[in-house]
Amino acid sequence: EIRFCDLQQPLDDEYEISNEIQDRCKELILGDDQLKEVMKRLTDDINKGLGKKTHADAIVKCFVTYVQDLPNGTEKGKFLALDLGGTNFRVLLIELGDNHFEMKSKIFAIPQHIMLGSGEQLFDHIADCLAKFMKEEKVQKEKLPLGFTFSFPLQQLGLTRGMLERWTKGFNCSGVIGQDVVQLLKDAIARRGDIQITVCAILNDTTGTLMSCAWKNHDCKIGLIVGTGTNACYVEKQKNAELFDGQDNGSGKVLINTEWGAFGDDGQLDFVRTEYDRDIDEHSINPGKQLHEKMISGMYMGELARLVLQKLTKEGLLFNGKGSDPLFTRQRFYTKYVSEIENEPHGTYNNCRQILEELGIKHASEQDCVNVRYVCECVSRRAAHLVSAGIACLLNKMDDPTVTVGIDGSVYRYHPHFHNLMVAKISNLVNKHIKFNLMLSDDGSGRGAALVAAVASRK
Ligand code: GLC
Repeated sequence: EIRFCDLQQPLDDEYEISNEIQDRCKELILGDDQLKEVMKRLTDDINKGLGKKTHADAIVKCFVTYVQDLPNGTEKGKFLALDLGGTNFRVLLIELGDNHFEMKSKIFAIPQHIMLGSGEQLFDHIADCLAKFMKEEKVQKEKLPLGFTFSFPLQQLGLTRGMLERWTKGFNCSGVIGQDVVQLLKDAIARRGDIQITVCAILNDTTGTLMSCAWKNHDCKIGLIVGTGTNACYVEKQKNAELFDGQDNGSGKVLINTEWGAFGDDGQLDFVRTEYDRDIDEHSINPGKQLHEKMISGMYMGELARLVLQKLTKEGLLFNGKGSDPLFTRQRFYTKYVSEIENEPHGTYNNCRQILEELGIKHASEQDCVNVRYVCECVSRRAAHLVSAGIACLLNKMDDPTVTVGIDGSVYRYHPHFHNLMVAKISNLVNKHIKFNLMLSDDGSGRGAALVAAVASRK
């Protein structure tokens, strides 16, 4: 599905946002000059990640993925896929046929104590869910190829070997960093002994997203996630990817997982970070890490908005200075609220009022609603603009005349204006001769994993 840009909704004082609120929110608005500076710094950091001598100390790691062949639509057969690292953990069974596919999938919860427990517990749980699913689907006797979407930074040593560099988002399981994640999965399956699989590939969700779009659209050369976390992968020339030691498949290209969520961890984004960003970081499970991601992704967006609302309330600029316990409670303002509040025409505040009531604020005035919406817009626009700067940076670096960007993730999917904001901002920032399209991926993490497994087992 290709979505076209309609006219952007203007954000201006037509809606009479109070001056003090506008003034307080100024630091959340990034001008094109700042965004261009962000692009310059990100380009430098990507080049460091790619370089042999600079990679070890690089912040934006630019891992080689070893996914080389894009699917061509002729892949066939039954494949399993695992998808770990987004909002849900899923197991999938996918049947690829002539330009069509069938898919069954099941969502399993990963309880908090497992997200923060030992690696062995995590992989036992994954193997357990996989076995249950295979039994339900009556394929427990088959030895099917499996693609594993593991959406964390991996130092890959091949298509089926990847060492975890760090946990990100809400995960922090002990004993996994530096280990080969495919081996940990195989070990857990062997411990059970009731099912058999062949792991054909381990991949990032950005890679899966790119693959699932490339299946239909051969211009797709960037995969982007704006969901719980944010990250992008792109097609790079082999000669620029100095760490690539795989075999040339004749294309001269390699797919690079940038792991741009870590951008800024050495201070490169301090010139645009605010007190709210510092607050989010200090109270996270990985302080000092993933600073770019913390300004953008769904895991943090609601909390960013809440921190701004809390401050404005305490300064007496909202709700007559009277907040509520929920409004002053961490994580209590969900990212979906931002989407819901922005998903009604200016001047209509039904969703906004309902959410404020959920938060125990029953005395909001019309002006409060205008201001609350404005705060949400500032936070989500900043995220969209930072992502746009990142994409424009990749487009300029690749310098291909036409590129489709395959995108997935809850923020891009559900925020009502994210797509349009991105189209408008990328157009401003990208070199004029480059044409781009933003394409919503159809379940990249699930279907993409099956496609990578299919392409790998095609050989
Ligand atoms: C985090 C992970 C990255 C993933 C992204 C989106 O940034 O480190 O691997 O692609 O989230 O899920």
